[in-house]
Amino acid sequence: MITISDNTKAIKHSKIRDMFNRSLKYDNVISFAIGEPDFTASEEVVLAGCNAIIEGKSKYSENTGIMPLRMTISNYLYNEIGVEYDPISEITVTTGAMCGIYQVLKVMLNPGDEVIVIEPYWTNYIQQIIMCYGVPISIPADTINGLQPDIKKIRSSVTNRTKAIIINSPCNPTGIVFSNEIIKSIAEIAKEKDIFIISDEVYKHIIFDNLQYKSIASFEDMKKRTLVVDSFSKTYAMTGWRVGYVAGPQQIISNITKLQENITACVSMPSQYAAMAALNGTRNHLNMMISCYKERRDYISKRLESMPGVSYKKSSGTFYAFISIKGTGLSSEEFSIRLLEEKQVVVVPGTAFGNSGEGYIRISFATSMENIQKGMDLMEEFIRGIKHVNKH
Ligand SMILES: Cc1ncc(COP(=O)(O)O)c(C=O)c1O
Repeated sequence: MITISDNTKAIKHSKIRDMFNRSLKYDNVISFAIGEPDFTASEEVVLAGCNAIIEGKSKYSENTGIMPLRMTISNYLYNEIGVEYDPISEITVTTGAMCGIYQVLKVMLNPGDEVIVIEPYWTNYIQQIIMCYGVPISIPADTINGLQPDIKKIRSSVTNRTKAIIINSPCNPTGIVFSNEIIKSIAEIAKEKDIFIISDEVYKHIIFDNLQYKSIASFEDMKKRTLVVDSFSKTYAMTGWRVGYVAGPQQIISNITKLQENITACVSMPSQYAAMAALNGTRNHLNMMISCYKERRDYISKRLESMPGVSYKKSSGTFYAFISIKGTGLSSEEFSIRLLEEKQVVVVPGTAFGNSGEGYIRISFATSMENIQKGMDLMEEFIRGIKHVNKH
């Protein structure tokens, strides 16, 4: 008899997957749903990975990752966020940020423990918390202040079962970079209530308009209660290489490593060498990608300005645009499904990221300018065809 645990049954596919499945019946769709760079890794990264294979650096590594990579990450974190991490005891290399966050939760949570997740959120947080028998506490966004985290609501949601708050800045899906005041307030809550912060920093380099990124780990007394989770996926266009890491307090890191010993053993060794090359290399490839994303964001913003029923506050980071479609009179899901059925353009309904996302859609601009131009033309035709669209 096939047996599926209740815990597994409780895990849901995301609405992103649902849109993807719906799109399969059409031949020529334009997809704005994809959450990965449309670039490949730089030549120096690819060569480093290939050379590692040729040189036989393709065995199991230490569970916690090869030492040279951990040392490189340690230097990088010191230079980048100004926090010192011991490469031996405070950093572990993980199979992407995804596995990193999962392992942090697995180490921290007893059944019934709560984790605060701020809407609109990356959907996997919720499923991962449930996979660890935890309880996700979803905090609606501050809709009056442009979907910023609602500090009051976050503070009042902490209970004696709360173990951590997950933050993600720059944020997928909104593209918002949290202000220093917001981060400081979240840090104050963590200190006051004696809880941890899981800081998902996978988009920290994809920032526009000269904004500066500040990690919550760098705030006073926060290193000891923060797990910095980062990845090579977005910054270096290395999604398929599956390398990320967690930096934080020694006891949590050593327990993550213990879990890793029993799950994946280690991250693929050639990928670890490639990741090292990414950190040691120039930023030319990253800068090229950022300038493409910026050009696309600006184009999208310009196009949306002339469309009725929609509004868009330019993303400060990431490669996502979170667009209000409230003036179209359609719900997020109606808009997304009709846009797919009528024009074969795939977007993600904002409700995929929590209830606060109602009235929004997310589009990913990690796709070519040609696709973006065509997609925007089709979206404009679609919107102009909606009966009760608010023409402002
Ligand atoms: C906010 C956020 N965190 C983590 C991840 C996972 O990244 P990785 O490829 O490192 O597992 C993603 C991927 O889409 C993401 O958007």
